[in-house]
Amino acid sequence: MATQRSYDIVMFGATGFTGRLTAEYLARRMADTKFRWAIAGRNRAKLDEVKRALVAIEPKAEAVAVLEANVESPESLDALARAARVVITTVGPYALHGEPLVAACARAGTDYVDLTGEPEFVDRMLERYDDEARKTGARIVHCCGFDSIPHDLGAYFTVKQLPSDQPIVIEGFVRGGGKFSGGTWASALGAFAGAGAYYKRRMAKRGKRAAGDGRKVRPAPARLRFDRELGAWACPLPTIDPQIVIRSARALPEYGPDFQYGHYAEVRSLATLAAGAVGIGTLVALAQIPPARRALERLRPSGSGPSEAERARAHFRVRFHGRAGERRVVTEVRGGDPGYGETSKMLAESALCLALDRKKLPERAGVLTTAVAMGDRLLERLRASGISFEVVPQG
Ligand SMILES: NC(=O)c1ccc[n+]([C@@H]2O[C@H](COP(=O)([O-])OP(=O)(O)OC[C@H]3O[C@@H](n4cnc5c(N)ncnc54)[C@H](OP(=O)(O)O)[C@@H]3O)[C@@H](O)[C@H]2O)c1
Repeated sequence: MATQRSYDIVMFGATGFTGRLTAEYLARRMADTKFRWAIAGRNRAKLDEVKRALVAIEPKAEAVAVLEANVESPESLDALARAARVVITTVGPYALHGEPLVAACARAGTDYVDLTGEPEFVDRMLERYDDEARKTGARIVHCCGFDSIPHDLGAYFTVKQLPSDQPIVIEGFVRGGGKFSGGTWASALGAFAGAGAYYKRRMAKRGKRAAGDGRKVRPAPARLRFDRELGAWACPLPTIDPQIVIRSARALPEYGPDFQYGHYAEVRSLATLAAGAVGIGTLVALAQIPPARRALERLRPSGSGPSEAERARAHFRVRFHGRAGERRVVTEVRGGDPGYGETSKMLAESALCLALDRKKLPERAGVLTTAVAMGDRLLERLRASGISFEVVPQG
């Protein structure tokens, strides 16, 4: 377990689009919170420029250290992991660059948070590093951005409104928009390229990770339908989010004796739905052809992303319909720009939570979800920083 460390937090990937936003958020938090931290990356000149920008935001950021590390150098990652209590990484695509840092943190007993939404990567890290992290005390927490915090903590918040001695069914409906960055684009193309092989492997392993305590936890049957309560189409959404909710439910008894979760996009019209399906189908097909994939990657280069004005216009809402026996509840998670503004906030607050709230967190280690590692405490932090989790009164 991390004890004598030079930094509470090291932010690796601070020169990228989302890493820089996360560093800026942490710099602003220095105004009211005391913590020691460093930015890290592979390019010293770019890091120095980020540091100057941080000092312009918050003069206390003069104390922020600058560390060099490269994914190609395992020694540099070991040094990073040994120096920190928590490492944040935004060096993606994670399927390509992520594993060496997870390995270093699991070895060193260092807590770790990232922004991956790549299911194949998360499955691989669970298989390879869960045992070691449990032994060293490291908490490896993937998916600490829009993938999957609003969904994981939203389902957790909804469960808390329901009796835990009856079967629980929750459906989550996601609405929102916004443009995306070069890193997100590259990660999505990588995931599309490997989607077929990944789903074959996953189907082969289906049902092998049961709750282990006699409780049932499963995905709710999903189908495209018009939902009268929402007044919109509900389209099954095969992101990583339902897998994360299911993992939290397997680990936490408060999800009840028989838990089901269904995950949907909320779409206003059939025309939008059809256009989205054609667009994604085309991208999945093109991502299978290497020259086409490379040409697509060049459309949004690394380091680029939506402007401040575009981010200010973006927002999200996730609505949850929960039921347990006779009891029904509707809850809602809301915030601003899902992809970057709120994502950098969620990532930074997750790291602050692991670094500073240790005594208030459950005694757990291994490859964990946000609900399992940080539950109520992270919920409190996010609410205090402007992301709302509310019960919607029913008339
Ligand atoms: N799930 C979500 O909600 C969500 C939201 C936003 C982003 N993301 C994910 O976050 C990741 C980052 O996205 P982004 O748009 O910020 O990416 P980006 O702008 O391309 O930044 C990538 C970062 O990785 C660094 N890097 C690349 N190769 C490296 C290496 N060998 N050693 C050390 N550093 C290296 C880059 O350093 P240089 O500056 O030196 O090139 C840069 O700092 C992506 O995987 C994206 O999918 C997820």
